[in-house]
Amino acid sequence: MPSNTDQVMIFDTTLRDGEQSPGCSMTQAEKLRVAKALAELGVDIIEAGFPAASQGDWEAVNAVAREVRGPIICGLARCDRDDIEKVASALAPAKRRRIHVFLATSAIHRELKLNMAKDEIICRAVEGVRIAREFWDDVEFSPEDASRTEVEFLAQVVEAVIDAGATTVNIPDTVGYTVPHEFAELFGYLRKNVPNIDKARLSVHCHDDLGMAVANSLTAVVAGARQIECTINGIGERAGNCSLEEVVMALQTRETFFSARTNINSQRLYPTSRLVASITGMPIPRNKAVVGENAFAHESGIHQHGMLKHASTYEIMRPQDVGLARSSLVLGKHSGRHALRERVKELGFELEEIEFERVFKEFKALADKKKELFDGDIEALVLRSEGTNSGPWALVALRTRSEVDGGGAATITLLHVDGAKLERSASGDGPVDAAFKAIEDATGLRPALQKFELRSLTEGEDAQGEAVVYVNYNGRSYRGASATTDIVESATRAFLEVINRIEQSQRAQLA
Ligand code: KIV
Ligand code: ZN
Repeated sequence: MPSNTDQVMIFDTTLRDGEQSPGCSMTQAEKLRVAKALAELGVDIIEAGFPAASQGDWEAVNAVAREVRGPIICGLARCDRDDIEKVASALAPAKRRRIHVFLATSAIHRELKLNMAKDEIICRAVEGVRIAREFWDDVEFSPEDASRTEVEFLAQVVEAVIDAGATTVNIPDTVGYTVPHEFAELFGYLRKNVPNIDKARLSVHCHDDLGMAVANSLTAVVAGARQIECTINGIGERAGNCSLEEVVMALQTRETFFSARTNINSQRLYPTSRLVASITGMPIPRNKAVVGENAFAHESGIHQHGMLKHASTYEIMRPQDVGLARSSLVLGKHSGRHALRERVKELGFELEEIEFERVFKEFKALADKKKELFDGDIEALVLRSEGTNSGPWALVALRTRSEVDGGGAATITLLHVDGAKLERSASGDGPVDAAFKAIEDATGLRPALQKFELRSLTEGEDAQGEAVVYVNYNGRSYRGASATTDIVESATRAFLEVINRIEQSQRAQLA
């Protein structure tokens, strides 16, 4: 590596800002699974959540702090002692930890949200950093809505929080409003006008409301930022955050231009992206840069001709650089453990023996129904592992009937973890509607259905159909997904997963 190449820290906020995006909430088991994948990916910092937001958030941050080693584990807090103490207690078991405090600084937020004058903002920000420093040395401060803050005032805030002990100062474009040229000027202004700026690491945090989060983050790096805050697949509030895979691959592909590198193992990008998409139910657009299905597909004759001569004619990155190991190899019912283990590995997943055995069993069951198993099938088997199907209800039997006039009927048998076995029948507009009604009758829960999606996971008439169900219950949104070769069964299992998630969250609230 050339000596003038700088290290840019990757601060992942998938579990905090990412999880804030509508419909992307994750269970604690899912958060842990994502955090472990992020550690393997090589992120420097994992922002695991906002412990003061709820008991569930505190517990999830605490679980990540207990179980994930490698990256610094970070928790978000407002500039108030109670919030900061909650971060400190949640992060106590972590080996490396950071407190991230924030306070809005723009006139809009000061006047319309906080009702605070400029000097009060500075006092509160300094107090927040000082309290955080009572716990640990690694403290980050974010002036929320920095990009819409008067630059002179922003410089005063930044100077004051560095004096108070902030070791990282993050400049958020909270509402995705800035443009690259203007953002570079802002970083240039801060570097020139904040006398103690070299005592802290400058960070950037961009939202994608105008589709410029990645461009603005890269511009900030050119202008001196040495930490990028981002999320897997760019998930986050509203239009999302800066996408980790895009910003990392831009730095890697154009290393000589940026003179910057990261600790990311880029071959883990694709599997991590698929994991987050599967857990959050937020699909990856086919044409998404770096990890989209079409990112390395060449359709036009001229392009295909060029690719056959040399891949560099139309490819600036190789699929294997991002961990995309597509193969035309098809597995079937005669494939053994060895072949499956190899395929799982090639797809970028490491499974513990017990997990692998579960996947192998399901693989065999699927191979009895489906002649050929493609990469998409294997991926779905692996991704649906831990965290899902965790009860209390399990589907024992399902019988459905549908009529050409649209009517349908279903009989389901459910087993509750406490041993109760219930059979219920219902009729509805079709077999799926009838199965949902039978489940509602058995469990006594009636969530409002918001959205129902069906898609085929692979090609072929016997492809698995994945159903995703989104509901609203008591003001909260829940999502369930399932994939089998029978779409009515997939839909029924997806709805039952939603019911299980509602019951789990009700129990967590009571605990
Ligand atoms: O967008 C934002 O301003 C934030 C801060 C809390 C860093 O997420
Ligand atoms: Zn944000």
